[in-house]
Amino acid sequence: MSIHDDVTKVGVQQIRKWTAAGRRLVVVTAYDALMARLADESGVDMILVGDSLGMTMLGYETTIPVTLRDCLHHTAAVKRGAKRAMVVADMPFLTYQISPEQALRNAGRLLQEAGADAVKLEGGERLAPTIRRLVDCGVPVLGHIGILPQSVKAEGGYRVQGRTPEAAAQLQRDAAAVQDAGAFALVLECLPMALSQEITAGTAIPTIGIGAGPHCDGQIQVLHDILGLFEDFVPHHTKRYAALADQIRQALAAYRDEVRGGSFPTEEQSFR
Ligand code: KIV
Repeated sequence: MSIHDDVTKVGVQQIRKWTAAGRRLVVVTAYDALMARLADESGVDMILVGDSLGMTMLGYETTIPVTLRDCLHHTAAVKRGAKRAMVVADMPFLTYQISPEQALRNAGRLLQEAGADAVKLEGGERLAPTIRRLVDCGVPVLGHIGILPQSVKAEGGYRVQGRTPEAAAQLQRDAAAVQDAGAFALVLECLPMALSQEITAGTAIPTIGIGAGPHCDGQIQVLHDILGLFEDFVPHHTKRYAALADQIRQALAAYRDEVRGGSFPTEEQSFR
């Protein structure tokens, strides 16, 4: 249990209570049991097994190639590491867009086979009937609007959303539709902070921002970004709290030198 409260397992009701009490939600991604355990022990409230695993773990350039099988595998690992935090599994590209029934079948697998506590899917108004179908069947859904990384090919890149009055109005409608469809919370990715403040004020469900400013009910970051593990680029919205990639390189270079130089192992690491 963390020093932050006496909650032994975070769920949807707890998230509602915390938001009503003005306590901000702390969310990170994780993709394996070890990192999930460290995040859990650090007192984060929710762990997203994001399809960003395509970039952070699998070496892809986008999230598009990530499969349901990948998400099942990584979510099951995260569940083995996280005891307290709520674990949300991302639904990968084309595992929910075809029909609400397809979404229900695949969300069901993430809950039944991998043990996810909830699923996340990208999209606003258009996805509302799908979210409603899942929620009606008892699947907790985390919505996601703003930049939708699974649409990167159609969008031609990752750009801050909602900068024109029309786009801002659409995002307001998207947030309302996701809420009315029954999602328990909503990720806002890369919106001007004034817009995410308005959306946060206008929705009853918690908003969880990434690149959406300080006025959201919670924040989410990609673990590999904030730990300085992923170095291909540093998103504008990220703050690095560590430089682990550098530390790992230094540690491995020291190991390499000691093996080559014959100073590792010594008798201390040997058996008699
Ligand atoms: O896949 C992911 O990590 C995400 C977050 C960036 C919200 O969707």
